[in-house]
Amino acid sequence: MKIAVVGTGYVGLVTGTCFAETGNQVTCIDIDKKKVDKLASGQITIYEPGLEKLFLRNQKEERLTFTTNLEEGIKEAAIIFLALPTPPGEDGSADLKYVLGVARDLGKILTEYVVIVDKSTVPVGTAEKVHAAVAENYKGEFDIVSNPEFLREGVAVEDFMKPDRVVIGTVSERARKVMTELYAPFVRSGNPLIFMDERSAELTKYAANSFLATKISFMNEVAQLCERLGADVDMVRRGIGSDDRIGKRFLFPGIGYGGSCFPKDVQALVKSAHEAGYEFQILNAVMDVNEKQKLHLIPKIRKYFNGDLTGKHFSIWGLAFKPNTDDIREAPALYMIDALLAEGATVSVFDPEAMPNVKTLFGDKVHFAENQYEALSGAHALIIATEWNEFRQPDFLRIVKELKHKAIFDGRNLFDLEAIKSLGFHYESIGRDAVNLK
Ligand SMILES: NC(=O)c1ccc[n+]([C@@H]2O[C@H](COP(=O)([O-])OP(=O)(O)OC[C@H]3O[C@@H](n4cnc5c(N)ncnc54)[C@H](O)[C@@H]3O)[C@@H](O)[C@H]2O)c1
Repeated sequence: MKIAVVGTGYVGLVTGTCFAETGNQVTCIDIDKKKVDKLASGQITIYEPGLEKLFLRNQKEERLTFTTNLEEGIKEAAIIFLALPTPPGEDGSADLKYVLGVARDLGKILTEYVVIVDKSTVPVGTAEKVHAAVAENYKGEFDIVSNPEFLREGVAVEDFMKPDRVVIGTVSERARKVMTELYAPFVRSGNPLIFMDERSAELTKYAANSFLATKISFMNEVAQLCERLGADVDMVRRGIGSDDRIGKRFLFPGIGYGGSCFPKDVQALVKSAHEAGYEFQILNAVMDVNEKQKLHLIPKIRKYFNGDLTGKHFSIWGLAFKPNTDDIREAPALYMIDALLAEGATVSVFDPEAMPNVKTLFGDKVHFAENQYEALSGAHALIIATEWNEFRQPDFLRIVKELKHKAIFDGRNLFDLEAIKSLGFHYESIGRDAVNLK
């Protein structure tokens, strides 16, 4: 099948590459010329485990091409995916200007039947708006499908190739056939293709992300309670997670959720609900808890240093909003860096993948270290913001050697309390006892 993907960011590049991998002829289109030139010359633009290998193979076999030219890119395509940004507008609702802009452009150049698929996360009613935008200039036949994407950054290729489910919102029999054929290789093991109307598909995506964000904020509140009542959140997590009705995943407390999806999607659903005359009370609390949680470690650090961080130097391990990605959108580490700098402290950081992105934000306001141990040099304490695997079993003797104080503030609960206690660290984490308090 000939497929076009408009928007070649995290979702567009993974989508295009994975569809090429099953034998389709894919053209990815983007307005960012630098990005397209880079991709066309065989250089990948994002870090995503397993993606580069597929990207290079499919490009070599000429199933995956890149262009900035929409008209050229959609030529003869049976399906056009829209993987465009839907950032929050000033009022928190999803801004549809990119999606509707491309829909209008498509209307000017379409010549035959095509299925236009919304893969961006969009509010309920967008499929109708996209339909109207295309129809402003194109009077031929076409269908709009809502096919929200559930991939997780860091495991995006695996999620795309073996999805738990594929949600397809369309009432058109013709579009349904095309989508069924396209996704057949991805659901061979029996995971469902779930068909529904466009509105339900659009809401499914927001409901899924908002529910997961709710689980995280819920556990962060349980963690707050644990700290006050002397309970251990890891025990509570295991205790409740083994109940099938609750499930083990997304119960890890920390310094809040970030990324390009949860913060904006929760906010957009609250806004959509409000516009529909309903106040989504739980989600307002979810957002509130998350905002506070991002800075949960700061008062602990301040207290340890007797209320004054002026002139103190901190090492931060982890910048990406989660491991195995270089994505720093809404990453809690960034909020912590801002807070520490505002209190007169200085900061050295290390992240295996996300440092170039952070450099564009902070420039020389922070020191970017060569490796996790160099980041410790001269630091008064270590702060852990992202749970990269390589931080889980560090060389504690090197940490002791480099740090001025034997103090670790861990936003991701990486270390065993008994082990860290015996090493003599002052250690504070989330929802667990502080160890070796001064
Ligand atoms: N990132 C994720 O994990 C994820 C997961 C599921 C869904 N989503 C949703 O998918 C959508 C895309 O997200 P993303 O993370 O891939 O965004 P992104 O910002 O990484 O990529 C979007 C791309 O679209 C391009 N673009 C903008 N206007 C364009 C135009 N007129 N023509 C062609 N290209 C244009 C940009 O240059 C950029 O490369 C969003 O709605 C997001 O909420 C994201």
